[in-house]
Amino acid sequence: MGNKTYTIYVLRLGHRIERDRRITTHVGLVSRAFGANGIYIAGEKDENVKKSLEKVVMTWGGSFHVEIGVSARKIIEEWRAKGGEIIHLTMYGLPLPNVIEKIRKSKKDKLIVVGAEKVPAWIFELADWNVSITNQPHSEVAALAVFLHELWKGKEFKFEFKNAKIRIVPSAKGKKVLKT
Ligand SMILES: C[S@@+](CC[C@H](N)C(=O)[O-])C[C@H]1O[C@@H](n2cnc3c(N)ncnc32)[C@H](O)[C@@H]1O
Repeated sequence: MGNKTYTIYVLRLGHRIERDRRITTHVGLVSRAFGANGIYIAGEKDENVKKSLEKVVMTWGGSFHVEIGVSARKIIEEWRAKGGEIIHLTMYGLPLPNVIEKIRKSKKDKLIVVGAEKVPAWIFELADWNVSITNQPHSEVAALAVFLHELWKGKEFKFEFKNAKIRIVPSAKGKKVLKT
């Protein structure tokens, strides 16, 4: 894959099995497709989310680590202790265009934090960057996709996923799929 400069993980806060299963899965799918190395999911331990993401990895290739039921504080503290930086996506933060160049240039590993419900104040304090993708409320899935797209400057369109069992052959019409 195209990411060789730094390791990128996503930390999804406050997962609730009943309410968030679909959207947390989508956060995981976007993380993988847009070049993150893995996802930590804090909150309720949901084996089904882990299974569906791992199934996608088996079929569509690449390596993508999924860890569920983690403590957000522990993950953030460990990430910081290893010299990584913490980037919290929030509509209250600094506009992405004002900060993305600095974030891109920093060689530190990146932990990208996205919320579910109300995000606790300590996350805002511990984050190195609080970044907004517009100052309007929308979705963690959209925020993550836009952030990673800007981080890569669009290179994610060229990422290759090793050992894929299925590859799409892009076509103007219809569906062309290669199975290996
Ligand atoms: C549905 S929102 C809930 C936010 C919650 N009401 C709060 O006060 O933090 C879930 C997550 O989407 C992300 N998000 C939503 N809008 C955003 C924006 N404009 N910029 C960056 N991230 C955003 C944030 O990570 C947020 O925690």
